[in-house]
Amino acid sequence: MNSKNLDPSQFAAILLNWQSSYGRHDLPWQTDPTPYRVLVSEVMLQQTQVMTVIPYFLKWMETYPTIQDLANSSDEQVMSLWQGLGYYSRARNLRKAAKYIVEVWNGQFPFDLDSLQKIPGVGRYTAGAIASFANNQYGPIVDGNVKRFFCRFFAIEGLPTATVVIKKLWELVHAYTPSQDNRVFAQGLLDIGATICKPKSPNCEICPFQSHCNAFTTDRISQFPTPKPKKIIPTREGHFYWIENDGQILLEKRHDSGIWGGLWCLPEATEFNSLSQELNLKGSFNHQFSHYKLQAKIWNRLVDDVVKTQHAWFTKSQLEEIGLPTPIRKFISKLHLIEN
Ligand code: ADE
Repeated sequence: MNSKNLDPSQFAAILLNWQSSYGRHDLPWQTDPTPYRVLVSEVMLQQTQVMTVIPYFLKWMETYPTIQDLANSSDEQVMSLWQGLGYYSRARNLRKAAKYIVEVWNGQFPFDLDSLQKIPGVGRYTAGAIASFANNQYGPIVDGNVKRFFCRFFAIEGLPTATVVIKKLWELVHAYTPSQDNRVFAQGLLDIGATICKPKSPNCEICPFQSHCNAFTTDRISQFPTPKPKKIIPTREGHFYWIENDGQILLEKRHDSGIWGGLWCLPEATEFNSLSQELNLKGSFNHQFSHYKLQAKIWNRLVDDVVKTQHAWFTKSQLEEIGLPTPIRKFISKLHLIEN
């Protein structure tokens, strides 16, 4: 490995300088970056784009201004606020984290990285982010942005999901993270990855690291990070029932694990045969998940004796209040029963 003779302090100086002039300074979680606000924003940002997260973050902070408010809420409430963000276990984990901080730490976050990592749902990335952003302390972070930037800067070969590559990246970030100005440094790492060292067409011409970047100086930008082999995404059918009675719709609460975990949903048919059940179709929709495409069909069905404990009836106005999977909400709103 050869980083063109940039040692960690030179690296930090360039990054801090760049961040001050060109980085992002007005994201809502950068105002009053308490550990609680950093935790919530980082968990939201884990699988979701900044622009999507902003309104959710603002609404969350209005609803739960303090970690005590979150600890005192219910899974049902947090799931409803999370509607549309996806990966719903993040919402339940945030509430678990809040209860843990209140119970174990009397509502005050610990400072050291090891204790931070004992908080439910907090791994080394989020611990590093809290240390850096909230406490302005040493807190190494490796997320997708940092991975891409470092794989190019150090010309690291191998899939960025490979254990050896991840280990290497964390070692490098540990070594290159300074012991001061950590808030600006960490934001700089994320911002240079998000705005300059982008996945497609990176802006190398304005990158402050251009002359030190191993991928750029050897004209191999497109080779780093090592591209993933294309995966074939399978299609799966899903069958759901539309059971309406006296102005109410029957929903089932899904298991906490699996897709739409913990959300209310139209009852899903596990073993399905429309012919034997003589059903007619109410409608259909497709939805793309990261690992498969769902082709959903919704069948009209009369109330019968299959109502199980995980089912409940909802009026149309109650449907506005609960956590529904986005494609199910869209489907129902197209029937003009509820607002989208
Ligand atoms: N992605 C993850 N964390 C972020 C942050 N604090 N600011 C901007 N983008 C991010």
